[in-house]
Amino acid sequence: MSSQLTRRDWLRASGLLTAGVGLSCFSVAKTNSLPAPLAPEFVNEFAFTDDPFSKMNKLKARLLANENPLGISPAAKEALCKAAESGNRYAWTEFGQLKKLIADDELVTPETIMLSPGSSDILMASADYFAKNGGTILTSAMTYDDLLDRSAKFGAKIVSVPMTKDYKFDLATIKSKITPDVKLVYLVNPNNPTGTVVPTAELESFIREVAPKVPVFLDEAYIDFYEPAARPKLGKLVAEGQNVILARTFSKIHGFAGLRLGYAIAKPELLKAIKPYTNGEFAVSITTLMAGIASYQDKDWQNHCRAENAKARDYTSKALADMGYEVIPSSANFILFPIRMKTKTFSNAMFANGIGIQTRDFDGQPYCRVSIGTMDEMTAFIDSFKKVVG
Ligand SMILES: Cc1ncc(COP(=O)(O)O)c(C=O)c1O
Repeated sequence: MSSQLTRRDWLRASGLLTAGVGLSCFSVAKTNSLPAPLAPEFVNEFAFTDDPFSKMNKLKARLLANENPLGISPAAKEALCKAAESGNRYAWTEFGQLKKLIADDELVTPETIMLSPGSSDILMASADYFAKNGGTILTSAMTYDDLLDRSAKFGAKIVSVPMTKDYKFDLATIKSKITPDVKLVYLVNPNNPTGTVVPTAELESFIREVAPKVPVFLDEAYIDFYEPAARPKLGKLVAEGQNVILARTFSKIHGFAGLRLGYAIAKPELLKAIKPYTNGEFAVSITTLMAGIASYQDKDWQNHCRAENAKARDYTSKALADMGYEVIPSSANFILFPIRMKTKTFSNAMFANGIGIQTRDFDGQPYCRVSIGTMDEMTAFIDSFKKVVG
């Protein structure tokens, strides 16, 4: 056999091999939208606990973590499979590519963007940085508490201003609570768990007024659920040099909760201050980065997910309202409503039916927060709800 023939054979063989790897990667990606059920030894271990979350991977409807039930975009899947072949290389230019895409959209420079493995890393690092010497973190009641809990661990005082009767932030009262002891103002828009939003003009003037006195952390984890035309564009405040940190995540509309990707937009001095408390951008894997670059550009998938979310959210809100429940109007991929049963009783009964939800008490009133899943999942949620509340 000539050496030329050998090489051609080898090339053909390696080409086929590559196609084969691609194929199996796609077929796995298509069929496996939930993590595999726990191995039996772990199930036994968890069987000793009454924590309903231990049954996460066995649920009929997993409506407790505001995940995207439709999965990641087809373009992201393809990029992920391709990226697997680069898994032996450190990510390099990919960081810059993704930052450039985001910067162009937000009308900021790439230097004002810091990538992270999910936005939690940015929330935690900001808590560490701003609360390291104590002080006060000012926020609203009924909001996402990861950054607040972490700040409290450093001995920071958390001042939470009650919401208005219609579950909106009371920005005027928040403003009135600013003292020299306040190290950070933390706001979430759209807010978790209420799903409510602050009108963009109000948010912008609040930041313009407050940020010269104290930094504002605006957690925009659910911003992608705004219709594109209505989406707040507050990157301009960063470009102007305001003391504001915008935190974003790919965990929601992009469906990257397990892949882990997020970013902060803030002026370079602020990013530099927070950075030592983060895990560093290299904590984002090349697979996630390449998938993120593809997903970011796949507007069709984002539009599809947003539309499906709105449809299933409307169905669920209406079904609950028809049963006489007061549903808080939501602009995100979950809804919150007061229930008439103790949280634990309600939650256990729903989990027993295979429906995972979250419950919380606010001022002694129990609430259910249900994430928006597929139409089938929401129908199962409503069926179970009817049985549980009788
Ligand atoms: C308001 C808010 N911020 C931040 C996060 C953190 O998300 P991740 O770390 O997955 O980006 C979440 C997650 O649910 C959230 O609801």
